[in-house]
Amino acid sequence: MPVIDLRSDTKTRPTPEMYQAMVEAPVGDDMDGEDPTVNRLQERVAEMFGKEAALFGVSGTMTNQLGIRCHCGPGDELLIHRTGHIANYEGGAPAAMSGITCRLVGGERGMPTPEDFEAELHPEAQHYPRTRLVCLENSTNMGGGAAWPIDRFREAAGWARERGFRVHLDGARLFNACVARGYTPADLTAEVDTISICFSKGLGCPMGSMLIGSADDICKAFRARKLFGGALRQSGIIAGAALFALDHHIDRLSEDHANARLMADQIAAMPGLRCDPATVETNILFFELDSEIGTPQQLATAVRERGVVMMPAGPRTIRVCTHLDVTRDDIKQAAGVLGEELENLRQSAKPVSLVRQG
Ligand SMILES: Cc1ncc(COP(=O)(O)O)c(C=O)c1O
Repeated sequence: MPVIDLRSDTKTRPTPEMYQAMVEAPVGDDMDGEDPTVNRLQERVAEMFGKEAALFGVSGTMTNQLGIRCHCGPGDELLIHRTGHIANYEGGAPAAMSGITCRLVGGERGMPTPEDFEAELHPEAQHYPRTRLVCLENSTNMGGGAAWPIDRFREAAGWARERGFRVHLDGARLFNACVARGYTPADLTAEVDTISICFSKGLGCPMGSMLIGSADDICKAFRARKLFGGALRQSGIIAGAALFALDHHIDRLSEDHANARLMADQIAAMPGLRCDPATVETNILFFELDSEIGTPQQLATAVRERGVVMMPAGPRTIRVCTHLDVTRDDIKQAAGVLGEELENLRQSAKPVSLVRQG
């Protein structure tokens, strides 16, 4: 049975054209800086962001962790939204790899304001960790794919700089935000010190990420990458896919966004599910299931048996993520299956009516 996998944009497989670009990429020993395709990719991305340098990494987790390690060390802390990937889904790496603690702050849909940051600041004293860094995420994963408005982003980054903190951007899905809001990566990140981007999400590559920043920071990250076991050899085969994706897979992200919006519209019309299509800006959406009908796990299991895969993401919540391997027709089919299985679940949840005997 063909599967429509809506769990994550990491589920994509390389297209035949991307495979071809990988096969044709000239390669060398990247650990010694001799891979021409990796070098070309690093130069191109640095230029795209208006920064001095960029460094290829295996994953978004790695390039996030290299980034924060450029700015802080043991005993320091970083400030991040309470749903941020760096704090929640990277295996405790800030503490485990670099001795850094995370102070969590609030904010709507993963986007803290200067006031949200101020509310959690502590005095400068021996009792406290030293605050060094602010981490922002764009688009926000657990914030429902929200894309920061550029003014609000600049305000948050500007606040950090005024306070003397450095700024790291987790841009695993930055191109989704750029396409949704119409800004360029360089417009957005002028006030940011380091940026991590992923090729393995909306851009459809099998793996690969990039850390972007000043020559000085990238030099520090280069040493740490070796330490973390991330210095590779002929990684040009992967960089070839990334170059292909930069040429062919950025503009098409708007299709994923339109598909997510279509799915949200369909879900919003199903009694028993709650979703606000107006909040769907990129390729991620969350919806809630009425608890009288069943659990997200029950609904996800039922649709999975019919070839539609979704991610339960909380006691009442399910996440849907659109991507390169999901067409508009797939979305229509997935919505149809969801509606039918919701109805089946509702029927099976109905209390059995008490029949008076005699
Ligand atoms: C916002 C965000 N940052 C970072 C990452 C980490 O990327 P990776 O899975 O390549 O380590 C992810 C992964 O989904 C993510 O959603």
